[in-house]
Parts: sequence; structure tokens; C-alpha cells
Amino acid sequence: MVDALTASYGSVEAFIKYFSECAMSARGWSVLAWDARECRLWIYNADAHNQGGVWGAVPIIVLDVHEHAYFMDYGADRKAYLKVFWKNFNWSRANDVFKRASLIRL
Ligand SMILES: [Fe+2]
Repeated sequence: MVDALTASYGSVEAFIKYFSECAMSARGWSVLAWDARECRLWIYNADAHNQGGVWGAVPIIVLDVHEHAYFMDYGADRKAYLKVFWKNFNWSRANDVFKRASLIRL
């Protein structure tokens, strides 16, 4: 997954920065997904359950940024929520999901 993130975003650190910026601007979710047609990773923001889905894209990382996801603990401080999200992020599990998803090629 490190290689794929580096290919798409320059480095893992740059990916985290860009994904977090996307999450700051999203109203629903930010999603890192494997695009089975282009065989690369993309970040998508989606605002609703029934909109924003991308055909052929397999979610790898899904971050809920609806207010109900963080407001009770962090108030309006979404940046603090994102900081804790990354601090607790299970990279091993995400890598497992990526390994299986990246086998899918359309
Ligand atoms: Fe939610």
C-alpha cells in the first residue's frame, strides 16, 4: 500500500495531508478507494449514502466526517478528530484490505 500511496500522492505523509484536507472539506465521508479500472488509488468525498458512489471503486479507508461522528467528543474541532483518527489508524488492517482490493482489475 505504501508503494501505491507513493505513486498516487508522492508519499504516505503527503497522502495523509491531502486526505485530511479532503476530510476537512467533506460533509459526509472521505474515502480512499482502489479504482479497479485505472488500477490506482483515488480519494473521493461523498455527502450522502445514495450519491457519490463510484463504479469499480473499492473502499480502502473510509472516514466519517458527518458531525455526528465527532461533535460529541470534539465539538466543532474537526482537525482534532482527524488527528486522533490518524493516531489510532490501523495501517496493518488497511494494508490487508488494499492487498485484496488491488487484485481486482476491470
Ligand atoms: Fe456517520
